[in-house]
Amino acid sequence: MNKRLFSAFLSACCLASVSAVMPDAEIDSRVSDLLGRMTLDEKIGQLNQLSGYGYAPDMVGRIRGGAVGSLLNETDPEVVNQLQREAVENSRLGIPLIFARDVIHGFKTIFPIPLGQAASWNPDIVREGARIAADEASSVGIRWTFSPMVDISRDARWGRIAESFGEDPVLSAKLGVAMVEGYQGDDLARPNTMAACAKHFAGYGASESGKDYNTTWIPETLLRDVYLRPFKELVKAGSATFMCSFNDINGVPSSGNRVLLEDILRGEWGYDGMMVSDWGSIEQMIPHGYSADLRQAASQAVNAGVDMDMESHAYTSHLRQLVESGEVSEARVDSLVRNVLTLKYRLGLFENPYVDVASSRRFYAPSSLDAARRAVEESAILLKNTGTLPLNNSKVKKIAVIGPMADAQHDQAGTWVFDLEKERSVTPLTALQQMYGKENVIYAPGLEHTRDLDTKGFANAVKAARKADVVLFFAGEEAVLSGEAHCRADLSLPGAQSRLLAELKSAGKPVVMIVQAGRQLAIMPESEMADAVVYCFHGGTMTGPALANLLSGKANFSGRCPVSFPRMSGQEPLYYNHKNTGRPASGITLINDIELEAGQTSTGCTSYFLDAGDGAFYPFGYGLSYTTFEYGEPVLSATSIAPDGSLKVSCTVTNTGNREGAEVAQLYIRDHVASLVRPVRELRDFAKITLKPGESRTLEFTITPADLEFHVNGAQTVVEPGEFSVWVAPNAGEGTPAKFTVVKPNDSAAK
Ligand code: GLC
Repeated sequence: MNKRLFSAFLSACCLASVSAVMPDAEIDSRVSDLLGRMTLDEKIGQLNQLSGYGYAPDMVGRIRGGAVGSLLNETDPEVVNQLQREAVENSRLGIPLIFARDVIHGFKTIFPIPLGQAASWNPDIVREGARIAADEASSVGIRWTFSPMVDISRDARWGRIAESFGEDPVLSAKLGVAMVEGYQGDDLARPNTMAACAKHFAGYGASESGKDYNTTWIPETLLRDVYLRPFKELVKAGSATFMCSFNDINGVPSSGNRVLLEDILRGEWGYDGMMVSDWGSIEQMIPHGYSADLRQAASQAVNAGVDMDMESHAYTSHLRQLVESGEVSEARVDSLVRNVLTLKYRLGLFENPYVDVASSRRFYAPSSLDAARRAVEESAILLKNTGTLPLNNSKVKKIAVIGPMADAQHDQAGTWVFDLEKERSVTPLTALQQMYGKENVIYAPGLEHTRDLDTKGFANAVKAARKADVVLFFAGEEAVLSGEAHCRADLSLPGAQSRLLAELKSAGKPVVMIVQAGRQLAIMPESEMADAVVYCFHGGTMTGPALANLLSGKANFSGRCPVSFPRMSGQEPLYYNHKNTGRPASGITLINDIELEAGQTSTGCTSYFLDAGDGAFYPFGYGLSYTTFEYGEPVLSATSIAPDGSLKVSCTVTNTGNREGAEVAQLYIRDHVASLVRPVRELRDFAKITLKPGESRTLEFTITPADLEFHVNGAQTVVEPGEFSVWVAPNAGEGTPAKFTVVKPNDSAAK
C-alpha cells in the first residue's frame, strides 16, 4: 500500500473510531485473554520502553519481535504510524506501542513553566493549558506525557523546582489534579488525550542541599503529611500512570522501594494504573549501592512494582533468567504486564492505534495562543510598586527596554521545551514595540545573556535610559540555569545584571525590573534599587504580549508567590509552613547593628540569621495588584468542634481600590499544641476571586478533620484536641487569626 493511500486509510480508521470508555471488566477480560497467549519474551517486551531513533532497521526488528512496549521521543506522525504498523501488523500478537514525550508545559504553544502556572493559583488556567498541550501533542501521535510533576520543592537551589508547583502540598495537589484532568479529559480513549504521569514518586524535591539526584532523609510523618499528599490526590484524580523517582528515601531508592510503590501506592491508596521508572533509574540502583548488578536491580524493581523500564534495559537483559531461576515468578511478571496492557486498552490503542496524519500538527491555534497569554497574565507577580506601574501614557512617551531577557525567544520559554519553535516566541521587546511604536522604544540589552560579565554594553544602556521616561529592565536566568541537573548554590541574578541595574539607576529615571527565571531568586538588593518589581517564572510563547498588557495596565496583576523568596541564598531551604522552634525569631539584631565586642548573648538567642534575618523577603502567597483589597475578620460557625467535626469559616473581601482586580484569598490553619509539633501555618484552601471597585464578596470555606489531622504512625492520622487558629489572608505572612478548639472526644462542649 503506497504512503498516500495508507494515510487515507488511516484517516478513515481514525474518524470511524468513535471512542467509548471500555468497561474495566471488559478490559480485564481482554487483557487476561492476551496474557494467556503471550510468551515470556513477549511479556518482557511489553515492560520495555526505549527512546526512539526513527524507522531504523534494528528498531523495526525489535518491534516485530515484540521486544518493545513503548517508545518515547518520536514526534513525526508519519514515523509514529510506520513504527506502529510494525507493531500492529507485523508482530505476532499485534500489540500497539504507546508513544510518550515530556510535554511538561506545552508541546508547541508553550505555557509558563509549572512553577509559573502555580503562581496563577488558578486550576482552570492549568487545566486549559494541559488540554491544549494534549491536543497538540496527540496530533503527532504522543498519547502519554511525563507530567504533572508534583514534587514538593522547598529549596530554590534545586533546578527542578521550575517543573514543580512549589512548596505547598495543597496548592500542588489542586493544580496537579487540574493538569491530569486537562491531559486525560473525561474519556482517555479519545485520540486527542494523553495519559498523565504523576512524578516523581516520591520525595525527589527533598534532595539534600538542593543538589539534583541527591539523597533524601524524610521522616515518615513528614513524607506523608507533605511529600505524598499531592500524589494521593492524583490517584483519586485518576492519573493513568506514575513515575518512580531517582532518589533514595532514607537509604532505599524509589525504583526498588516496595513499601512506597506497592504497600502505600497500591495497597493503601488503591492505585491501579501503570508505574514507569525514570530514565535509567533501575540501573542507577547500582551506583546508589543498592544493587550489586543489573540482574539484582531488575529483580528489586520487579518486586517493588516498577511496571515499565525506561532505558535501563534491565528487564530485557535479565528478567527471563530471573523467572527461569524462580527468583521472580511469572505471575509477578504477568501483574506488571497487565498494568501495561490495561493502559493501552484505556487509551483505546487497540481500536485506534494510528495517528490521523491528515489532521496532525494542530499547533498554535489563535485560541491556544490567547490561553497562553492569559496564563502569563495570571501568573506574573507584582512584587513591588512605588507608583511607576501601570505605565502612565500621558507621562511615558519614551521607554528604554534594557536587559538580557528583553528579547530572549529561546530563554523565555523556560526549561523542558523539547519541541519549542523559538521563532514563535513573542518577546517583551517585540510586544512593547507593537504596543507603543518602535520609535518610542529604545532598546539596548546591556548584556548579551544573563551570565554575561562583559560590561561593554553598559554605556549604551545608560544612554538609552537617559533618553527615556521610564526604564524597563528585563533580568533573570536563561532557561538552562534551571531544570534537571541545573542547580545553583548562589541564587543571585547571574552575570553582571545587578551592576547594570545600578548603572541604570544613575540615569535618574524610574526603573521597573522584570525578572524571568526558573526559580525564586535572591533579589533583595535589586528590589531595593528598583521602583517596581515584576516576577515572571519563565512564561513561554506569549510572555511578551502578556507583560506588555500588565505593564501598560491593560491587564491587572493577580499572580501570587507559590514559593517563599529568600533574602539570601543561605536561607535555603526556606518555606512558610515551618515549625516554630523553642526560640522563634523576634526582635532581630542584624549584623550591621551589632556593637564591637558585643557580648555573647547581646544579639538575642533566637532562631534567625545575623545577616539574612528570618523569614521570606517575599512570603508564600504574596503579590500586589493595581487595586487594593481588605479582609474582614474570619467568622466561624463554631468556636469548638469534636475531633470528627467540621466548621465553616466565612470572610468578606472587599476591593477598596479604583479598578477591577483578582485576589487570592488563602485559608490557613495552625494547631498550636500537639504530640508532634505542628507548622506555624498550613494552607488548606484558597479562592481566586475577581472584584469590581468597591465590590465585596463573602467567601465560605469548610474545615474538616482532613484539614486538621496529621500522621503519627505510618498511615495512622489523628486530630488532637486543643486550640487552633484559622486565617483567611492574602499571604502566609499576614492576616488576623480566629480561634477555635477541638474538644476531647465525647466532650459535650463542642458547639
Ligand atoms: C528525565 C526526568 C524525567 C523525564 C524522563 C524522560 O531524566 O527525570 O522527569 O520524564 O527522564 O525524559
